[in-house]
Amino acid sequence: MCGIVGFVGESHAKEKIIDGLKRLEYRGYDSAGIALPINGKIEIRKHVGEIANLEKIIGEPEYDAPVGIGHTRWATHGAPSDVNAHPHGNQDNSIAIVHNGIIENYQEIREWLIREFGVEFKSETHTEVIAHLIGIYYDGDLLQAVNKAVEEMRGAYAIAAIAADEPDKIVAVRKDAPLVAGIGKGFNFIASDIPALLKYVREVYLIENNETVVLTKDKITIYNDKGETVKRDVFHVSWDADAAEKEGYEHFMIKEIHEQPKGIGETLLRRLKDEGGIETVNLDGISMTKEDIEGYDKVYIVACGTAYHAGLIGKMAIEKMAKIPVDVDVASAFRYRDPFVNEKTLFIAISQSGETLDTLAALREAKSKGARILSVVNVVGSSVARESDDVFYTWAGPEIAVASTKAYTTQLICMYLIALYMGRTKGTITDEYYTFIMNELKALPEKVEAILAQEDKIAALAAKFHHKEHIFFIGRGLDSCVSYEGSLKLKEISYIHSFAIAAGELKHGTIALMDPDSLVVALATQDFLYEKMVSNIVEVQARGARIIGLAKEGKTEIEKVSDEVFYIPQCADEVTPVLSVVPLQLFAYYVAKERGCNIDKPKNLAKSVTVE
Ligand code: F6R
Repeated sequence: MCGIVGFVGESHAKEKIIDGLKRLEYRGYDSAGIALPINGKIEIRKHVGEIANLEKIIGEPEYDAPVGIGHTRWATHGAPSDVNAHPHGNQDNSIAIVHNGIIENYQEIREWLIREFGVEFKSETHTEVIAHLIGIYYDGDLLQAVNKAVEEMRGAYAIAAIAADEPDKIVAVRKDAPLVAGIGKGFNFIASDIPALLKYVREVYLIENNETVVLTKDKITIYNDKGETVKRDVFHVSWDADAAEKEGYEHFMIKEIHEQPKGIGETLLRRLKDEGGIETVNLDGISMTKEDIEGYDKVYIVACGTAYHAGLIGKMAIEKMAKIPVDVDVASAFRYRDPFVNEKTLFIAISQSGETLDTLAALREAKSKGARILSVVNVVGSSVARESDDVFYTWAGPEIAVASTKAYTTQLICMYLIALYMGRTKGTITDEYYTFIMNELKALPEKVEAILAQEDKIAALAAKFHHKEHIFFIGRGLDSCVSYEGSLKLKEISYIHSFAIAAGELKHGTIALMDPDSLVVALATQDFLYEKMVSNIVEVQARGARIIGLAKEGKTEIEKVSDEVFYIPQCADEVTPVLSVVPLQLFAYYVAKERGCNIDKPKNLAKSVTVE
């Protein structure tokens, strides 16, 4: 996911593009760049880091023009760096392009361009092939060159291109990636999304798949894939830019909760392959042979906060499926206690940002002791990713809200896939079990959708209980791990005191806190522990606590011992965390909303903790 902006008018393209890019930073923010045709040449300025960095390097007045294109990047192919940042130019920079999407056959095109035209590539991106393709086909007509280039490409893209020889126009094209054209008076815009334009225009054309657009300062012409001009109705935007960035959601957190089916599906899709009719886990690019796996006598999972909670589930999955002992530790503790790590240890670091200092320091500590480092990371090219031997990326997309939601569920998917792969390779699970869990994983996006469709029920629970000052989360087995995450979500955004504990531990101390003012969220999704969990609920109910029960559909016994019950869809016990966490995320969100908290930016917290 990246953001693109193009402007064509009388002057000040640079300022308009920078304004637009700032509005698109939610689509990615690891690097940014701008291309402007000036004096018969195209000036490209790009820089790793946020838009503010770019602004500094193009402050000089000579870099102004009436036309230009810009980009804010969320790296997919090629680490975030100056050279990988967009725009990309062709061989002599007479063409420049910005791109959002993926070119699936870029390798093929790249080899062809090198072989047939001696093209020298500057970056590691798939995007650069587009600039060279257009450059090869260009003979004074940018529209025609873009159309020819698109014929060669497979994948998803929104592209905007400019040519030094036609400095009064932008050509853009879209397939499976968003694109809108903004209609001004004496100027026009192209962008990935409406917020980029709203400071300057309120009327837009929504560009559809396989359409190409030519923009000059006075005209926007849309063509279909047969080259015919298309008449499009004008769409009038009545909402403000802040709301638009969040795609109509009130906060990034709730938007990101809703993005989970997509993130889970995408993380799965990238790591599944067909092996002679059987769908298998594809760990291409990760070194994990049978010998490697058999050589590990221990796995260490290290992370912080929510990522640590994902590690707890990872432990259960790897121990169950691969039969290797797993230790899970918070990174801040791991690094100071001389842990038992050596060449026979597989060290798994989990981190959304890939920049958490404690996790990075723990990784370095494990590396210095000879462990192999595999990281599960969301931000491509981040420090954790760069310093690891192997990286398993989550495909959650940029997570903006401080409270982590979609990163957690996609981290769980990675942990299941690693466990399945190790178990199958080692022969510690049967083919039937492998296929069974694989099918359970594939069914998750739809089941998460089914939970999200019941959001109102959770909002009603939040309205009823938001005034509580002490909220406990209890569960057994995997449910206890999810309890920790539910409790963390609630306390970090609602500031309610909350505590999570393995339900079997209650009677060893914590039950002393239970009284009629307590609210207990009781997770009972593990079939084989269900009856024991119902007994634990009875124990706290006897002390007067109010209970919200969480169980699988059909497990209705819990209704007799709870004030309220929320059901998740039926699924294998192993994968319940991906489902049971969703109502807990929603509960935290709606409680915080009832209490008027700053949900996306809770007090005292930061998205990326780069200090000890
Ligand atoms: C909680 C939360 C934090 C992070 C933790 C690790 O909602 O977001 O607990 O999970 O700071 O961050 P990463 O995953 O970036 O290493």
